[in-house]
Amino acid sequence: MTSNIMQISNLTHRYGRGAPVLQGLNLSASPGEIIGLIGLSGAGKSTLLRCINGLVTPTGGTVEVFGQNVPKLRESQRRRVRRRIGMIFQEFNLVDRLSVIKNVLVGRLGYANTLTSCLHLFSKLDMDLARSCISQVGLDGYEDVIVRNLSGGQKQRVAIARTMAQGAEIILGDEATANLDVRTTDSIMELLQDLSRKNNTLLLLSMHNLDVARRYCPRIIGLKHGVLTFDASAQSLDDSAVKEILVT
Ligand SMILES: Nc1ncnc2c1ncn2[C@@H]1O[C@H](COP(=O)(O)OP(=O)(O)O)[C@@H](O)[C@H]1O
Ligand SMILES: [Mg+2]
Repeated sequence: MTSNIMQISNLTHRYGRGAPVLQGLNLSASPGEIIGLIGLSGAGKSTLLRCINGLVTPTGGTVEVFGQNVPKLRESQRRRVRRRIGMIFQEFNLVDRLSVIKNVLVGRLGYANTLTSCLHLFSKLDMDLARSCISQVGLDGYEDVIVRNLSGGQKQRVAIARTMAQGAEIILGDEATANLDVRTTDSIMELLQDLSRKNNTLLLLSMHNLDVARRYCPRIIGLKHGVLTFDASAQSLDDSAVKEILVT
């Protein structure tokens, strides 16, 4: 019996005939862990995250999430796995012209049948859940505000609420605080930390800011040219370790 909800073995990827972008990567993670993913631009961070949620089919290795090898799944099964994985991005990836609650309800679409999702018909249960998620991210009263009018920090809160409505057990963050100022970054990281503690959510968050990684991520992994060169506690990420990861 293992508590891993993610088990990556010998993961390798190359785009087309290009050079390998991920090389023989091994990684396992348990529920409730908060892992910071660091590495230079081009190191393969986004590719790794996209292999985990099945958006990229790697050229080699296994990516087991919830006990299933994602690359080998049929599209319908992949969608089911993806439903349990929330993504948050630097660019927020919200529908700007829609309200906060409609964006959060998008998290429920994976559970709806085609007709319901086409018509955007949601049950009272879904609406209540969406409202509760909005409240939990501190946006009470913003349900009907159009997302375009929100600040960056508020937009990221909406994206987090969407992952909650989705019932995500894993949240993957791709530079999710890169567009935010220092104070807003802290408030978003605190929100994610609370969420992980409360729901035992696994967080795997790529980031540039080492200080943020050290403060909020008890475990740090470092990618260099597609190779996982560091996997240890935040305390172990001293200057020489940083140099090793970030100097080409
Ligand atoms: N869709 C793609 N097609 C071809 N090459 C890509 C694609 N996406 C990323 N790459 C290349 O893969 C490498 C790793 O990219 P990426 O995973 O985005 O790294 P990071 O997120 O660490 O900046 C880079 O050299 C990038 O140019
Ligand atoms: Mg990237």
